[in-house]
Amino acid sequence: MNTTHDAAALILAQMTANDIINIVSRALHILGAIMLGGGLFYMKAVLAPKGADACFAGRREIWAKWVGVATFLLLATGVYNFLVINNGVKADGGKLPSTYHALFGVKVLVGLGVMFLGAVLAGKTAAAEKFRANLGRWLNLAWAGVVAIVVIAAVLRTLH
Ligand code: HEM
Repeated sequence: MNTTHDAAALILAQMTANDIINIVSRALHILGAIMLGGGLFYMKAVLAPKGADACFAGRREIWAKWVGVATFLLLATGVYNFLVINNGVKADGGKLPSTYHALFGVKVLVGLGVMFLGAVLAGKTAAAEKFRANLGRWLNLAWAGVVAIVVIAAVLRTLH
């Protein structure tokens, strides 16, 4: 018990403020991904077969707000994480391979697509109603996007 405690204290003591900010940013990115990806998955797998009304239980605007929160978290921490990774590699005298930039570009574009679908499927406009008319199809596409993003993110981690 004491050894575990000492080890934890040592790790904390060696951390800089930047390390802590980077860990918080990474955790917030993953939480944003869980909120948006998990919400879309639950809708697709469980609720959508019962129709759009079942997806929201009369609380569409509450889900719309959380889509906004998750989108903000993903964008803010995603940009920050990229800068930290890019600057870190540069500080070590190297540079990220072009494959990294290409895959990262695809990840961001697919991410923006998933955010758009999440937002429009939860929206209140006439356009949102049109998207909801094909709810199952758009949710399948959004989920395929989430899967692609997670796979790309796993590959990106091996490239620096
Ligand atoms: C639906 C949208 C998104 C989802 C579901 C998502 C999900 C993820 C996941 C699961 C990881 C792996 C976490 C880790 O290993 O720390 C990751 C890493 C990352 N994401 Fe995202 N993300 C999304 C959008 C974005 C956006 C818009 C950006 C940039 C503006 C971004 C930038 C990054 C960066 C820089 C990494 C670290 C990659 C590396 O290890 O080299 N992400 N993302």
